[in-house]
Amino acid sequence: MKDTVAIILAAGLGSRMKSDRPKGLHAVAGLPLVYWPVKAALDAGCSRVAVVVGHGADEVEACVRGLFPGADLAFPRQDRQLGTAHATLCARQAAEGFASALLINGDLPLLTGGTFRVLRDAYAQSGGAFALVTSIVDDPGGFGRIVRDADGSVERIVERRDASPHQQAIREVNVGVYLARTELLFPMLAAVGDENAVGEFYFTDIVAMMRARGLGVGDHVLALPDEAMQVNDRVELAAAETAMHLRHARHLMAEGVTIHRPASVLIDPDCMVGRDTEVWPGVEMHAGTRVGARCVVGRGAVLSGVSIGDGVDIKPYCVLTDSTVEDDGKLGPFSHLRPASIMRKGSHVGNFVELKKTDLGEGSKANHLTYLGDCTVGRKANIGAGTITCNYDGVNKFPTVIEDGAFIGSDTQLVAPVRVGKEAYVGAGATITKDVPAGALAVTRVPQVNVEGYVERKRQKRQSAK
Ligand code: UD1
Ligand code: CA
Repeated sequence: MKDTVAIILAAGLGSRMKSDRPKGLHAVAGLPLVYWPVKAALDAGCSRVAVVVGHGADEVEACVRGLFPGADLAFPRQDRQLGTAHATLCARQAAEGFASALLINGDLPLLTGGTFRVLRDAYAQSGGAFALVTSIVDDPGGFGRIVRDADGSVERIVERRDASPHQQAIREVNVGVYLARTELLFPMLAAVGDENAVGEFYFTDIVAMMRARGLGVGDHVLALPDEAMQVNDRVELAAAETAMHLRHARHLMAEGVTIHRPASVLIDPDCMVGRDTEVWPGVEMHAGTRVGARCVVGRGAVLSGVSIGDGVDIKPYCVLTDSTVEDDGKLGPFSHLRPASIMRKGSHVGNFVELKKTDLGEGSKANHLTYLGDCTVGRKANIGAGTITCNYDGVNKFPTVIEDGAFIGSDTQLVAPVRVGKEAYVGAGATITKDVPAGALAVTRVPQVNVEGYVERKRQKRQSAK
């Protein structure tokens, strides 16, 4: 669609959202609502995308530019929200030089490139003037109703507020996606009036105007009505997001991922999961998370921006953020990987273990109740229960290094900066403030004293005092 400019309408106030934030910036599956139609248009090959902005214009523009660096974008302003025809007219300059315009309402997050391709065919077949996408829905609600003539061609669109009771019952609705020849469209838009129930300039009047000029109006009826889901309020926002997650879950299942109770998982569409991986209920995956093959992602795990190798076993309720787990790692239950952590091949972290900016070497284990921050652990080291790196003095952070094969006894504090050498031992209950040489044993314990007969002597003292 090289000769096509996409025009996305996103200037509206979105008053039904009852929000201080522009509607287009509300997140659907981790990305702003307006991201989705822009992405669909770029994926379909439109060489320029004009996003008409108004309410929160600067914010919306900055957000979209940030999400699509390098794309040919324009942000025409609509200063007063006078209706969809008026909004489209604001993009007239941005559309100059393009033979056709793909017009998309900015609140349609579920559109796919496939729909645009079929729309283009309908446009070409009907004479290359205008085509629109329609859908048959159970509840036509606030959608514009499609009125067809005796031949079955689309004659006009009637907005709900202007519809007769008979028209209200029509279940074929206007999705809000159109393809139009620009040299016909823009002069006609300028002639759209506002004589309707709400006094707005309706884009949808274009259909009857095209027909009145004897031009053909092509249409494509959606096979999958979920593409028509629009977001006007928070209930529709939730419904659209649910549909998007379910669509992606279905795709992953088709690719060989087992998902237990797919309606309960939130796997954002930019997250990939490998074959024969098993995902348990309540799992969330966000921000480009990648999970390899043959993994288990246990109930309630929340993965954001993480990269997981093959054969990794994540037990329930782990939280992993911006980190990497290599093949055959084991985590949880209740492990926490904070940003910039890496678990090398075959390493383990167990319950209530937190890593931050930590590199846990191949085959190393920290299985219970441990905090490792700013720490580098070599291969095959064993970190005992309750080990804590004291990496922060209230002002600065300091590194801890634990070399290959070292054994850190339980309940140890490692006061950074500090290094435990290769194969060294640290006895349980130590507070390590100096480097431990390779092969050494460090013990910081106060020798144990057993006071024999202490309890009996205490009891006698108490009795003689009475
Ligand atoms: C619109 C259609 C309706 C269709 C429905 C489906 C019109 C008149 N009606 O109704 O037939 O069934 O979409 O998606 O077009 N906008 C602007 N500036 C404005 C007004 C709106 O940029 O002055 C933008 C909004 O931000 C929104 C889009 O246009 O992204 C559609 O506006 P909205 O108010 O949601 O229209 P609907 O009432 O849903
Ligand atoms: Ca809408």
